Amino acid sequence: MAKHRIAVVPGDGIGPEVIDAGVRVLETLREREPDLAFEFQRFDWGTDYYKRTGRMMPEDGCEQLRRFDAIYFGAVGAPDVPDHITLWGLRLAICQGFDQYANVRPSRLLPGIRGPLRDCPPDKLDWVIVRENSEGEYAGAGGRVHRGLPEEVGLDISVFTRSGVKRIMRFAFGLARSRPRKLLTMVTKSNAQRHGMVMWDDIFAEVKPEFPDVTTDKMLVDAMTTRMVLKPETIDVVVATNLHADVLSDLAAALSGSMGIAPTSNLNPEGVFPSMFEPIHGSAFDITGKGIANPIGAFWTASMMLEHRGETAAAKRLMAAIERVTGDAKVVPPDLGGKATTKQVTDAVCDAIRGAND
Ligand code: IPM
Ligand code: MG
Repeated sequence: MAKHRIAVVPGDGIGPEVIDAGVRVLETLREREPDLAFEFQRFDWGTDYYKRTGRMMPEDGCEQLRRFDAIYFGAVGAPDVPDHITLWGLRLAICQGFDQYANVRPSRLLPGIRGPLRDCPPDKLDWVIVRENSEGEYAGAGGRVHRGLPEEVGLDISVFTRSGVKRIMRFAFGLARSRPRKLLTMVTKSNAQRHGMVMWDDIFAEVKPEFPDVTTDKMLVDAMTTRMVLKPETIDVVVATNLHADVLSDLAAALSGSMGIAPTSNLNPEGVFPSMFEPIHGSAFDITGKGIANPIGAFWTASMMLEHRGETAAAKRLMAAIERVTGDAKVVPPDLGGKATTKQVTDAVCDAIRGAND
């Protein structure tokens, strides 16, 4: 029986609330999947750790995580420490340190959840956004000179490499091929940004013949936002740069009902390093400690983690339990218009896993 070694990094804000709930749900799954086994180790890294030690995680943090099969991550960010410090000190340090270059963000209208799109039947919104996760606008290149002076200059330089673009394209094509509709939309802003973005267009055209069974199209990112709202049924898999996909995936989460349900995985597809799984929502300080965070994003994330580990049956069982609870619409957290607490939603999903309502 293979034991999955999971590093649990709950992080800041509501991170610990939803990740603890997720670990409970994973433990409950074991009651129904006798072959499933986990070894969880918790790392209390994040902003409190930073305030005590001056670092978001220890210097050898990535080395400590290296021996795990996957990382189950909560959120990062706090009101009283600048975001770029918390982010670069933990989440991006892990993503970049472990070359997790494929960020995968599915959106679906789960049963019982009505998104803001009028007249959108559930099967019309079923997307996966593939976000380039290692370079582009998040490469960290740039600088500031003449600080505070009138001639101050600030530069954030996007870095696109042929190898980086090619591997994310191949990944996205492969994902599109595995889905029924086999449709891939590539998003850029190559009308205005005429270097790296045009290279994206070129490489897309070069990779396309390797996947003759995948239907493709291209969109500019601004036009893509309107297509997502007005013609959701025409979209299947989307591939875009780090920043473009960051923005599009928030829109996708909102259109599918709430930021509170959306999952994401940061994959190192070759498996050289562990991959990391996290709900897409952030630390949400406005509701931290109130016990009302929606844990469904963390549960869907856990299902993606199981799928990634080859535990397809368990992943499906968890997803079915989530959909049972959303579909029943009896236990609804505040972000979806109800009053249920994190614990009530978690209990309901655990009951659904146990089949208490069968
Ligand atoms: C996300 C988040 C992060 C990002 C933030 C916290 C910097 O918005 O995962 O989408 O932009 O990568
Ligand atoms: Mg984002």
